[in-house]
Amino acid sequence: MRIRVLGSAAGGGFPQWNCGCPNCRGLRAGTLKATPRTQESVAISSDGERWALINASPEIRQQIESFPPLHPRQPRHSPIAAILLTNGDLDHCLGLLSLRESHPLTVYATDRVRRGFTEGNVLYRTLERFSDQVTWRVLKLGREEELTSGLSVEAVAVPGKPPIHLEGRFPPDAEDNVGFRVRETRTGQVLAYFSGVGAVSPAVAQALAGADGVFFDGTFWSEDELPVLGLGDKRARDMAHAPLSGPHGSLAALETLRASRRIFIHVNNTNPLLREDSPERAQVTARGWEIAYDGMEVSL
Ligand code: MLT
Ligand code: MN
Ligand code: ZN
Repeated sequence: MRIRVLGSAAGGGFPQWNCGCPNCRGLRAGTLKATPRTQESVAISSDGERWALINASPEIRQQIESFPPLHPRQPRHSPIAAILLTNGDLDHCLGLLSLRESHPLTVYATDRVRRGFTEGNVLYRTLERFSDQVTWRVLKLGREEELTSGLSVEAVAVPGKPPIHLEGRFPPDAEDNVGFRVRETRTGQVLAYFSGVGAVSPAVAQALAGADGVFFDGTFWSEDELPVLGLGDKRARDMAHAPLSGPHGSLAALETLRASRRIFIHVNNTNPLLREDSPERAQVTARGWEIAYDGMEVSL
């Protein structure tokens, strides 16, 4: 299985347009040992011909251009055979509206995520220019679905929440936020893709346990990362992102994973992991974890 990281940052990217935190300022000033990152999305393929995207970021156009295997091979064509959505957050869905140039799309999501994006959304009409412009493949928790040639996917419920713009509209639901187990038929290799995780529940731990490669929520290093920097009062748990550090953090909870590649993705611009010479970064890499960057390639 070939995996290409198109974007590795959390919502807002790195640097974020309205952020003057030490990381964003240092990156702009060139004083930080760090590289810019666009918002989270990865492309995966078994045959190198047909690709599935996990999440459609607001930077999807630039991300497609950054990776030639995603370029058209005919006057009207796209190697993107499927788009999977982990949840309805705009950093994961807004890119769908950018793919509005009258091309058929196949989108895999839970029914909650599908409804959250399509219902009452007048902008969605741009993806209804002809019948079947978007084919929704509804993912049921725990049921494996064929994805594109040689790959199948299973959605796993993950502690999370509805997107900010739908908070309070519906009661929370197990289908609001999922992770994926993507399996390659030919090799049996499994990629566990869990980029938004509110807590490492037993189901999450089980879904990761047998995977050959793991992408995991790397949003925050600490629970109070934003308030400490004077960036509002939301704590990591209010945003449904388990922090990495601390006795209940994801690093401790995932100590026994056997996957040969373990990678943190959806990294927020405030996270000290982005500084390549930070002690936090050294601590994480010493434990066998990698930090995703735009353009990273992984083979399983
Ligand atoms: C998140 O990951 O919590 C969301 O992307 C936040 C947001 O939508 O801004
Ligand atoms: Mn996000
Ligand atoms: Zn920042």
